[in-house]
Amino acid sequence: MRLFILIALTAKVAALFDWERRILSCTQEVCFLYVNEEPPHLANCTRSDERVSCDMECDGAERDSVISKNPTIHRKCTRFYTYNMERIRGTERWALWRSSFCAKSNITFTVHCAFPVHFH
Ligand SMILES: *[C@@H]1O[C@H](CO)[C@@H](O)[C@H](O)[C@H]1NC(C)=O
Ligand SMILES: *[C@@H]1O[C@H](CO)[C@@H](O)[C@H](O)[C@H]1NC(C)=O
Repeated sequence: MRLFILIALTAKVAALFDWERRILSCTQEVCFLYVNEEPPHLANCTRSDERVSCDMECDGAERDSVISKNPTIHRKCTRFYTYNMERIRGTERWALWRSSFCAKSNITFTVHCAFPVHFH
C-alpha cells in the first residue's frame, strides 16, 4: 500500500517536469555541448585548480537526472569523486565538473535537466 502511494506520487511529480537532454563531450583540452537536438557548440568551461567546470545550459532547471557516461566503465571518472553536476553558486545555472585524471580524459556525459512545468 505504501509502495503504491509512493509510485503514484512519483509519477505525479515526474509529470510536473519537462526533461531536456544535454550531452557534454570532452577531451583534455575542450568540451562540446549538445543541447537537445541542436548541432554541438563549444561549452563554456572554466578551470580552477584541478577542476574544469562546464556550463550545461540548464538555466532554471530544478534538478538533474542520473548521469550516464561513455565509456560506461571509465576508471578515472567516478561520480562524486572526479565528476558531478552542481549548481553554479549564487545562480540558477548548472555545471558539470571534472577533476584529477577525469579532467584529462576523453569522456562523454549525458544528463537530463528537469525544468518545472507551470500550469496556467
Ligand atoms: C561562462 O561561464 C562563466 C563562469 O560561470 C561566466 O562568468 C560567463 O559569463 C560565461 N560566459 C558565457 C558567454 O556564457
Ligand atoms: C582523446 O581524443 C583526442 C581527439 O579526438 C585524441 O587525439 C586523443 O588521442 C585521445 N586520447 C586518448 C587517451 O584516447
